[in-house]
Amino acid sequence: MWKKPISHKESSEEIRVSDEVKRNWNSNEMKISTILLEGEAGSGKTELARALSANFGLPYTKVTCFADMDKSDVIGAILPVISPEQKFFSGEEEEKILSVLYKSDSLYTAAENLSAESGITQDQAEDKIRNLVKVLEKMPLRDSVEYKFYPSEIVRAFQKGYILEIQEPTVVRDAAVLMALNSALEPDGTINLPTEIIHRHSDFIAVITTNRGYNGCRPLNEALRDRVQHAEKMELPARQVMVERAMAKTGYANQKILTVMAEVIILLDQSARANAIRGVAGMRSYFYWADAVANGADSREALYNKVIYKVTTDPEEIAILEDTLASQGLLDELSSAIQNEPDQEVKKTEFGCNGNPDMG
Ligand SMILES: Nc1ncnc2c1ncn2[C@@H]1O[C@H](COP(=O)(O)OP(=O)(O)O)[C@@H](O)[C@H]1O
Ligand SMILES: [Mg+2]
Repeated sequence: MWKKPISHKESSEEIRVSDEVKRNWNSNEMKISTILLEGEAGSGKTELARALSANFGLPYTKVTCFADMDKSDVIGAILPVISPEQKFFSGEEEEKILSVLYKSDSLYTAAENLSAESGITQDQAEDKIRNLVKVLEKMPLRDSVEYKFYPSEIVRAFQKGYILEIQEPTVVRDAAVLMALNSALEPDGTINLPTEIIHRHSDFIAVITTNRGYNGCRPLNEALRDRVQHAEKMELPARQVMVERAMAKTGYANQKILTVMAEVIILLDQSARANAIRGVAGMRSYFYWADAVANGADSREALYNKVIYKVTTDPEEIAILEDTLASQGLLDELSSAIQNEPDQEVKKTEFGCNGNPDMG
């Protein structure tokens, strides 16, 4: 279950989605069980999916899609059980991963266990488990007599009734994988596993999150799109909301400075889009820039390192962004706001960055 951190601010999207899900909770026909959040990177899609977990008291979990995803990533894998005496792997690391796998009951929990035991991140552990699964799947049949089925995280969430965030399914290349995903999201769905048929838990909610389809980014598969019963277009939040989130996240309390910085971000975002510049000036850049300025960094210098170079390092594109900023005089406004900043002893509110390591 996700617990809302003190920095969490309920957004209008969160209220709307929660109300809609609640409204149809007991309806068989009209239940909202698949939601699409599409839009700007950093606009709060993941945070919203997690907030639903807190609002409904359901566990949150996620699957991060990748280009080479195959069916075993959607359903799970049926793997041979090989005894340690067989010394199938020569390397110690593989043997270790194998032993973790055998004592886990799904691929995700295997990654969790591996991450805990080896001190690596969940994502790294998932990669390692996935690689081992690939090897085991290719093993000739005669090498093993026994098999064990490891359900995917999608299957686990589906069966146990979790909130499942499906991140960026647009990147998946294999159409068959998208079809498998699509049929798993059917409202009355069942998933045929090699070992059994499982039924969709009535609490299961899938939240598909995808960044806006800018140039070069594939749109979300039509069939998947059609599957959702509620969709939100996620934008860079309104200026005041940006300021509130930055205050909560960084602990920096200067409303005036944060407001001008938010205006700079909004302007850069608009200018990047209007000029077909691919990068994003969004909430994450804003937080890190605000945090640097709050800690005494030079605002213009930090603007480059925290915001502009994240959008682009192409000199012509940088010049376009600089011209836009100059035409609005925002940087001068920012400098004078900083010069006039009262040299307060309490720059930070009580919940500063120290209490809040998650800057996103
Ligand atoms: N409602 C909110 N209140 C406070 N902070 C938020 C909220 N929504 C998002 N954030 C913060 O903004 C950053 C980006 O949000 P995230 O959900 O990861 O964006 P996305 O998934 O759209 O890329 C994170 O640091 C997150 O904690
Ligand atoms: Mg996200």
